[in-house]
Amino acid sequence: MLIRLLLILLICYTIQETTCAKILAVVPVPSYSHQLFFRRIWKELGKRGHELTLLTTDPMQDNPENIRQINWSFTYALRHNKYNITKVVQDNEYNLPKILASYQAMLNEIVDEELSHPDIQTLLKNESEHFDLLLVEYLHPTLYAFSSGLSVQILLPFERDLSFKERLLSTLYSVYSIYKSNDDVAEEIAKKHFGQDLPPLEIIIKNVSMVFLNTHPVFNVRPLGPGFIHIGGGIHLEDQNPLPKELKIFLDSAKEGVIYFSLGTNVRSHHLKSNFIKIVVDTFKELRYKVLWKFEIDIPEKSNNVKILQWVPQQDVLRHENVRVFITQCGIQSMEESILSHVPMISIPFVSDQKMNSLKIANRGLGIALNKNTVTKDSFKAAIIEIMNNSSYRDKVREVANLIRDEPMSGLEKAIWWTEYVIRHKGVKHFWHPNVDLPLYQYLLLDVIGFFTLVIAINIFILYKITCKTLNIYRQCSKKHKVE
Ligand SMILES: *[C@@H]1O[C@H](CO)[C@@H](O)[C@H](O)[C@H]1NC(C)=O
Ligand SMILES: *[C@@H]1O[C@H](CO)[C@@H](O)[C@H](O)[C@H]1NC(C)=O
Ligand SMILES: *[C@@H]1O[C@H](CO)[C@@H](O)[C@H](O)[C@H]1NC(C)=O
Ligand SMILES: *[C@@H]1O[C@H](CO)[C@@H](O)[C@H](O)[C@H]1NC(C)=O
Ligand SMILES: *[C@@H]1O[C@H](CO)[C@@H](O)[C@H](O)[C@H]1NC(C)=O
Ligand SMILES: *[C@@H]1O[C@H](CO)[C@@H](O)[C@H](O)[C@H]1NC(C)=O
Repeated sequence: MLIRLLLILLICYTIQETTCAKILAVVPVPSYSHQLFFRRIWKELGKRGHELTLLTTDPMQDNPENIRQINWSFTYALRHNKYNITKVVQDNEYNLPKILASYQAMLNEIVDEELSHPDIQTLLKNESEHFDLLLVEYLHPTLYAFSSGLSVQILLPFERDLSFKERLLSTLYSVYSIYKSNDDVAEEIAKKHFGQDLPPLEIIIKNVSMVFLNTHPVFNVRPLGPGFIHIGGGIHLEDQNPLPKELKIFLDSAKEGVIYFSLGTNVRSHHLKSNFIKIVVDTFKELRYKVLWKFEIDIPEKSNNVKILQWVPQQDVLRHENVRVFITQCGIQSMEESILSHVPMISIPFVSDQKMNSLKIANRGLGIALNKNTVTKDSFKAAIIEIMNNSSYRDKVREVANLIRDEPMSGLEKAIWWTEYVIRHKGVKHFWHPNVDLPLYQYLLLDVIGFFTLVIAINIFILYKITCKTLNIYRQCSKKHKVE
């Protein structure tokens, strides 16, 4: 049945006047933050009586209602051992084609292994298995083929008011990703697992009912059709929980302010160069503020004001009134948590969309952006003191947080409402613009532009000929005059 399902992405079948649907949710990327984003949506759908089958790299421990989970966590090993991200993290240059190629190769292999998993094979072969809706993360490489319809540009470190050079690069990148997205490997993997008679992936994607975007219009203004719904802006945020006692004492006692430092779940201590760590340790040594540092290893040379923990309840820490600045890698969820807790940021981006998010922070005055390759003890210290002493960053963060919160429906409510809308109407085609099927030259009006160019060229040519003729006649006339 799964075979049929991937054929009808997000399209529903044979539902009796909605109520409860059987939903298959697939999030293939082994990255905690990718999984975290969807959790509240899954749980809420489960609570409302829908039955979910969840294929995830990070199964939830608390066995939520109505959710059956298939554990794909083995893919982490593949990602960390074979596709060593240390190099990407440490690279001084930002080589986009190289990053994309390695990313795509990794995802192809991961998805192939995931689909070969015995539990998935059982699911695939079970004739009585039936689903009404497929909810799938768009980064799946076999779905990548469809990026031609939706330009995904999160890897470009540009933001607002692009210069000519940036627009040129952006266009080249789009063309490149369309070209790369026609990936035969992804197509092969799909055929291997779903049968040789599978239609081309680019045909399958045209059956998508709706696309949810994990971003908020405050940060992401673009023309979108009604099938695209912004659900970002803190959808993953949990209710406030009390802090562990020791951590609470540490934060409560820091009346002069706390610096919270974490590089998220993807950038690990062994990815960092030792001189970068030295700069961080030396900077903290010179500050009178307390520092809470989320890091997997302890650093013996650290000063007394620094507390290192392997894991911290980040959302609750950021909500603590004494936390004054968040030094972050600028993953989208960290950024949202910080803004919605009214904490300004110092961003040190490392991989994927972090560079672009970092520009968003700096351009809107929500914090200060630093470059991991060029940061020094002095610039790091100056940035921290500037954020601590200048209230403009905190004011801006508060302003943006108020904008994000001021919505008729929260991101979660929108996600649930629109998911059930798709279920109620057994798939949604009416929101999709007919342009989806247009050839690119028509979409870009190249034929129209070509036609007018030709008309203008012909006119110029005729005008030129007439002018020449007239001039010739005139010259001949004047010659005749002279002769006479
Ligand atoms: C698209 O959806 C329609 C209607 O649900 C279905 O008949 C068709 O087979 C689907 N096409 C593909 C390629 O999945
Ligand atoms: C998922 O599998 C891993 C081993 O591959 C195991 O360590 C982990 O506990 C499993 N998670 C759940 C929730 O069963
Ligand atoms: C990853 O790359 C780094 C630097 O290139 C190297 O030191 C490390 O041993 C590699 N790790 C693995 C698991 O290959
Ligand atoms: C096949 O799917 C049905 C319906 O979900 C389920 O009841 C049954 O246990 C499955 N069979 C196997 C062998 O997993
Ligand atoms: C920051 O402000 C504090 C008090 O508000 C002051 O003591 C300190 O000198 C200021 N630091 C800088 C670098 O301006
Ligand atoms: C505070 O920061 C803002 C934004 O960078 C800047 O415009 C302003 O001049 C700063 N204020 C002071 C007192 O330095």
